[in-house]
Amino acid sequence: MSKFWRSFSKLAFVFFILSAGSRFLHAAMPRGVDFCVSTSAHQIEGENRFSDWWVFEQKSGVIKNGDRSGKATDHLRLFRDDVALMKSIGVKRYRFSIEWARLEPREGEFDEEAADWYRSLLSELKSAGVEPMVTLHHFTLPQWVREKGGWEWAGAPERFNRYVEKVVREIAPDVRDWNTFNEPMVHLVTGYMAGVVPPQSKDLKQMKVALVGVLKSHALAYETLHRQSRNTSVRVGVAHHLRVFEAERWWNPFDQLTAFFLDKAFNWAFIDAIETGRLAISVPGLMSANEKIENLQGTQDFMGVNYYSRDQVYFTGMKPQMFELHVKRGAPVSDMGWEIYPDGFSQILVEVSKRYPKHSILVTENGIADNQLRDSKRIAFVRDHLSALKIAIDQGAKVETYCYWSLLDNFEWVEGFSPRFGLFHVDYSTFKRTPRESVEWIKALVSESGR
Ligand code: FCB
Repeated sequence: MSKFWRSFSKLAFVFFILSAGSRFLHAAMPRGVDFCVSTSAHQIEGENRFSDWWVFEQKSGVIKNGDRSGKATDHLRLFRDDVALMKSIGVKRYRFSIEWARLEPREGEFDEEAADWYRSLLSELKSAGVEPMVTLHHFTLPQWVREKGGWEWAGAPERFNRYVEKVVREIAPDVRDWNTFNEPMVHLVTGYMAGVVPPQSKDLKQMKVALVGVLKSHALAYETLHRQSRNTSVRVGVAHHLRVFEAERWWNPFDQLTAFFLDKAFNWAFIDAIETGRLAISVPGLMSANEKIENLQGTQDFMGVNYYSRDQVYFTGMKPQMFELHVKRGAPVSDMGWEIYPDGFSQILVEVSKRYPKHSILVTENGIADNQLRDSKRIAFVRDHLSALKIAIDQGAKVETYCYWSLLDNFEWVEGFSPRFGLFHVDYSTFKRTPRESVEWIKALVSESGR
């Protein structure tokens, strides 16, 4: 090789490394998209003693390592510091949930101290210039509601609505964006099919009753929020968990069919029910429903999307399970063992925008468990999911917000405290928050984009 070519190829190599490196560091917020962070009450506040989860956690063998939520991240005491952390990153919005069990620990008795605490949180956010997005139900119920039958109880929608009315009139009259429910399908499938969370049932007939109860509660809350809010631009949606289901053996028609039905039932049945006013599900051998629900049609002003991963669907043919969900062999995974699959994010967002073209999309959750303080997996995850989001926007998806799950490490339900999703590491013995490397990276991302 001549001297010229040798120096040329050296230069080209250096250029390649530099540009790959800067691509690694360099991501951009897609235009028009706000950076937001998400949390939920039970996972961070602590001392959620009147909830069904608190009671459930006292049983042995239900949570990994015997963990209990306890003080969680002690956010109840440290919320001002946590809002300061958000401000330091420059996030524009914060999605959090209000805890029904804290506000109404006993039927009909509202706890004014708890109401004051949420008012203080909202005013702290306002001073920090962070716009709140409130979720009204994030997996937990007051224990007294659970004892009456949870969402199967015919009185649940009306009681839920009374709590919602209290929140919108007395605590958060100016909030614009609301999620009535977080991941209703995950809540019901884990509670009534897998049976691993309250009410620990495996009865699909009960699940159907509970599903109708949730839809009725949503419809009532939608109307109440619109009627009672002081914010004239109020918007109400649901944070839907959407996954990619793919046949594990592409040549196997049973895997294909099962993936098809899972997608229909898990991803779209609930959303379609809200859009059409009718719950229509048909999964051969598992569940069927065809029921009109009063005042449900059109009760959604935006589409909340939580996206994490993809499942490979493997038909076993054996009752009662019929199928198994696997992680694609050799695929990159998070500390939770979930496949990291950004292409699926574009697919889901494009699919949502095709099915429901009139709605804006708010990405209400997307994140990764990465325990490291130098969390390069997290940085790569966010970078790749933002690129996927940009691809979806280029294909017509109207996305306006991206909420990273989560601001802090927290109590990850049946997985206990071991998976760490936080931008900030939490030391559970001192509750000290320490920024992971991703924090600096996100700061730069947000400040560069001005969003
Ligand atoms: C979502 C939940 C959220 C958190 C993340 C990791 O399904 O909504 O509470 O557990 O997963």
